[in-house]
Amino acid sequence: MTQKSSSHKKLLGVLIGGSGLIGGTLAHYFKTQTSADIDLRAPSSKKLSIRNAVDIRDYLKRVRPDFVINTAIANIGSDAQLSLEVNYVGTLNMARAAAALKIPYIHVSSAATLPTGENLVETDTLSITPDLNNYAKSKLMAEKTLQYMHKHVGLDYTCIRLAIVYGEHDHKVQGFHRLFFSVADESMPVLFTKKGISHSYSNANKFPHFVHHILNNREEFSGQTYHFVDKTPVELADLILTIRSYLELKSPREIYVPYSLAKFGKKTLEILLKGLTRIGINGNLPPELMFLESFYKTQTLSAEKLGNSSFVDPMPDENIYTKLPALVVYYLTRWTHENLISTYSDKILHPNAMSNEFDSSPDEILETVHKNSTSPFEDLLVP
Ligand SMILES: NC(=O)c1ccc[n+]([C@@H]2O[C@H](COP(=O)([O-])OP(=O)(O)OC[C@H]3O[C@@H](n4cnc5c(N)ncnc54)[C@H](OP(=O)(O)O)[C@@H]3O)[C@@H](O)[C@H]2O)c1
Repeated sequence: MTQKSSSHKKLLGVLIGGSGLIGGTLAHYFKTQTSADIDLRAPSSKKLSIRNAVDIRDYLKRVRPDFVINTAIANIGSDAQLSLEVNYVGTLNMARAAAALKIPYIHVSSAATLPTGENLVETDTLSITPDLNNYAKSKLMAEKTLQYMHKHVGLDYTCIRLAIVYGEHDHKVQGFHRLFFSVADESMPVLFTKKGISHSYSNANKFPHFVHHILNNREEFSGQTYHFVDKTPVELADLILTIRSYLELKSPREIYVPYSLAKFGKKTLEILLKGLTRIGINGNLPPELMFLESFYKTQTLSAEKLGNSSFVDPMPDENIYTKLPALVVYYLTRWTHENLISTYSDKILHPNAMSNEFDSSPDEILETVHKNSTSPFEDLLVP
């Protein structure tokens, strides 16, 4: 890889999961910032499902990439079959293809493979047991198989573990953005955590810079696992209260709900929702609630190995707190447009938006458009 890039051959990569939060951020970066030396193809899951080994083989035979990146996952709350097929078998299929083609395989994993505790290092994984949730079990099995394939079939891979990710373009509103949504939506009356509980956070915008760097430095990063997290962990209660103050809201109140009570509430809601399905009303709790326990347990990942590597943080002063104002504007605008929240009116976020006229006087828009803006695009005109 390093030789190829120094001889200025344009590299071709294949990205799996390009429509997701992490994959989308990577696709955008490689399209806009590295297009001179790297080309990235990001087939949709309809075109290439990693559950299907034949799909992968056919696609990679045709494209012959120089590297592959896998950011695909089944939805967090998926059943055992889908979690196994996408998160584990999909990873295995991609790794087998990369090993055959002798190209680097970049794998994205999760802090869900780690126990709780402070300053956890890359070797501190959970043990694989039947009672792990489907997500953690399948992600952990994938990590173990990649290690095995590096040792036994010479797979050139790097595994990057992310903690709680923050960034724009989370269309599914998951993880941190679900928490942020609950505050913005005022559906979190009190704090479902304990004082002093901290977690690590991963910056989605910095992540592509790391992937680019490790692609260009295979010798250092091959066969390695890295925690890609901000240096300083963040206290959950403080983060929620900071979001609250940005949004100028009164809730959540600074009342800490004990875990036993939160667990009881969750169980009651589950029973209630089950009962409602009998009368034809379907509803689901956010899948993140399966991680309720982690709101009450500290899990912080050591960033020391990353810090000691040759990677240089491109935005050393950016963290979840400095990023909050931009995230607030981005997500409030998005959720308001999607009618997911009504608290923040579009008139406040965008006082001059065209949609204000669309609301009150659509006939004026029609008149202006018909008068000034219906001529065919000149640059497309066929002579
Ligand atoms: N977001 C976080 O807070 C977080 C935290 C820790 C670790 N991570 C890790 O980061 C990675 C990316 O997560 P994310 O948040 O970006 O996930 P995401 O937004 O849910 O995106 C998942 C992607 O996987 C694709 N996919 C699903 N099934 C597929 C299949 N059978 N074949 C091909 N593609 C398939 C989806 O495509 P379709 O939309 O077409 O189905 C989508 O593009 C995962 O490895 C995850 O474990 C994320």
